[in-house]
Amino acid sequence: MHKGIIDSGFNVNMKIDQSIDRDGNVLEYCRLKNITIQAWSPFQYGFFEGTFLDNEKFKELNDKIDEIAAKKGVPSIAIPIAWILRHPAKIQPIVGTTNPARLKDICKASEIELTREEWYELYRAAGNKLP
Ligand SMILES: NC(=O)c1ccc[n+]([C@@H]2O[C@H](COP(=O)([O-])OP(=O)(O)OC[C@H]3O[C@@H](n4cnc5c(N)ncnc54)[C@H](OP(=O)(O)O)[C@@H]3O)[C@@H](O)[C@H]2O)c1
Repeated sequence: MHKGIIDSGFNVNMKIDQSIDRDGNVLEYCRLKNITIQAWSPFQYGFFEGTFLDNEKFKELNDKIDEIAAKKGVPSIAIPIAWILRHPAKIQPIVGTTNPARLKDICKASEIELTREEWYELYRAAGNKLP
């Protein structure tokens, strides 16, 4: 849901909001300097609204998450984390659950690797456009 850090790289030299570099290319800087970025609140959208998982406001995204989860044989909750882990910057997700069963399901993300096609399908299902 909050992916401005990667949007600008996809939309270079475009006259649209998503092309704006709001952070001085911190992602690329960290990659060049071997600095690890951490993604906190990976299941949340907005500040206080809640999670996008199992949320009817994000039906297209949840349908795509469920479809890829079924194909990969992992719980759906593992897919957003697999999406973050697939990025070449080796971003570390910081999850906040206090539920051990949920945490176990989330950890399944480390047992799979999304294809590039799956990664971009998820990006688009979340409402993002590619140039
Ligand atoms: N540095 C900063 O500025 C900053 C900002 C925000 C957060 N953080 C830190 O980052 C860590 C993670 O934040 P977060 O807790 O917001 O992360 P998160 O993993 O995105 O959110 C998990 C929270 O959502 C709940 N939840 C409800 N339905 C869920 C569902 N279907 N799937 C998954 N979770 C669901 C979980 O409840 P259950 O416990 O019941 O599973 C848990 O409270 C925390 O330690 C937080 O303090 C830091």
